[in-house]
Amino acid sequence: MGSEEEDAIVQERVIVEGHNAQDPTEQVESARKAFEQEFGRFARFIEASAELRLPLSEADSEQRSLKELRTRHLGKKSALAASKKLIGRVGPDARAAFGQVVQSAEVEIASALDQAEQTLGGILQTLRNERESIDVTLPGRRPRLGHRHPITLLRERIEDIFVALGYAIEDDREIETDFYNFDALNIPQNHPARAPQDTFYTTDGFALRSQTSTVQIHAMQRRGAPVRMIAPGRVFRRDTPDPTHNPMFFQVEGLCVDEGITMAHLKGTVAEFLRRMFGPSTVTRFRPSYFPFTEPSAEFDFSCFKCGGQGCRICKNSGWIELGGSGMVHPNVLRAVGIDPQRFSGFAFGLGIDRMCALMYGLDDIRLLFENDVRFLEQFE
Ligand code: FA5
Repeated sequence: MGSEEEDAIVQERVIVEGHNAQDPTEQVESARKAFEQEFGRFARFIEASAELRLPLSEADSEQRSLKELRTRHLGKKSALAASKKLIGRVGPDARAAFGQVVQSAEVEIASALDQAEQTLGGILQTLRNERESIDVTLPGRRPRLGHRHPITLLRERIEDIFVALGYAIEDDREIETDFYNFDALNIPQNHPARAPQDTFYTTDGFALRSQTSTVQIHAMQRRGAPVRMIAPGRVFRRDTPDPTHNPMFFQVEGLCVDEGITMAHLKGTVAEFLRRMFGPSTVTRFRPSYFPFTEPSAEFDFSCFKCGGQGCRICKNSGWIELGGSGMVHPNVLRAVGIDPQRFSGFAFGLGIDRMCALMYGLDDIRLLFENDVRFLEQFE
């Protein structure tokens, strides 16, 4: 630059925002130096980060800082932008030269920034790819498999035996009307048999069923006669919880109605079921009993599966285990569902699964079955 041009530039000293009156060329020079000084940190950093492992979050924040650096040194309010505004005010002789000084400083800063941004962008991409990549050779995580509840295991064994004997499996509602839970089962209003089967009632005339015998009625209404079915399911009673009682428990109902069905069929069926359940030497006995929906009625016991009838802790030294109730379907029940008791007869039985489950697995308390303690439940796999 000739000395005349320099003089011309010097004459154009101005006060730029935040800067003292300064030679415009010096002003550009100091803007460039200020950039170099700040940029030095990034140049060093990018060089180092290409080799070193740096966390993704740190690389992200460096990228943001680099953007801020661009705004500070090339943005509208930068010292370089202020110098650009001076170009028009520099004397005509020196204008072109000064314009070049400004432009070359701008190109130099911009290309340094471009390069740094590109390098950091590449590093960031690599880091992101690494984070998202999956090592397909790693062994998979084994999902913890659940298994069936002991009540379900027992219910399925009972179902298998009866299906093999030609019985259908019925599943029915748990919320019932009085008709199905009591009236159709020959238990009219104010009958004393309602008391031990007191249950939970809703305000609009419905109740939670207190026995699976309700399914006898539904099945006969739906299928008519002949019918052979079992109905496993949940039942509810207003019983205070203790080691042998729960307000919610499981029963299995059995029903067989056809022409010529007698008590002998009932005894043969229950005995065969218990032999298949507990072994061929199992002995069954029937004791007279009373249920409003069967006549005659009997409760049935079987010889203890543990001691074979000798007497032990499980059978409380009696040699027998009580299992459920049974009997010949009462003619009133057949009439309630429109089946002619002159032509058809049938037997029914019902047993509680929870107590049976407790006996088989040696549990002291049936409440354990519904505490949902995994440490307890995982023993029944
Ligand atoms: C009945 O529920 C009759 N429906 C059975 C029946 C069906 C008789 C068909 C004749 C013909 P019972 O109330 O005895 O009978 O109950 C049957 C079984 O349910 C009992 O032997 C017992 O194992 C079980 N059980 C009764 N109450 C509870 C309770 N609170 N908690 C757990 N199990 C119970």
